[in-house]
Amino acid sequence: MTNQFVMTDTPTLRQRARQHIEAGAVTVGYGADREAVLTLLNGALATEIVCMLRYRRHHFMVRGIHSQAVAEEFLMHSNEEQGHADLLAERIVQLGGEPNFSPEGLLARSHAEYVEGVTLVDMIKENLVAERIAIDSYREVIQYLGNQDPTTQRLLESILAVEEEHADDLADLLFAMPPEQTAGH
Ligand SMILES: [Fe+2]
Ligand SMILES: [Fe+2]
Repeated sequence: MTNQFVMTDTPTLRQRARQHIEAGAVTVGYGADREAVLTLLNGALATEIVCMLRYRRHHFMVRGIHSQAVAEEFLMHSNEEQGHADLLAERIVQLGGEPNFSPEGLLARSHAEYVEGVTLVDMIKENLVAERIAIDSYREVIQYLGNQDPTTQRLLESILAVEEEHADDLADLLFAMPPEQTAGH
């Protein structure tokens, strides 16, 4: 099967680029459903904010002999989730949308939950569950996008890779907990 590629001719490219220039990066050739993508990105943004907040809370709340390394890990993850939120907000604006940072309805927009947890093990487990939710939801959005919006797709792929690292770090932390801590709860 030969798949012959024929580039759009230059006059058409030039003429199309002059239409709706106020739309910035969103051109006539944008292949995805922009409104649908914006809704998905705002869902991802809410997820990142909730994860940033949960990790922050856990960073300050961990207690006990194993706390130091875990507290530092939680803070690092929290900062990385904030970084993801910023990247998503930036992409939303590039696509002509508005990033929703409203606390009103934040949890409902987020895929991940905000569970405070009591013990260190609770906290690690809750963060691991949230990462797994984020991983699955990003994977689905990446598949949905197909090749219709490669920039958003690449952005989500780069975020997904970090969430997978986070999940792996948390699984390691859980494994390193002494048995008396992993029992109970
Ligand atoms: Fe994240
Ligand atoms: Fe994460």
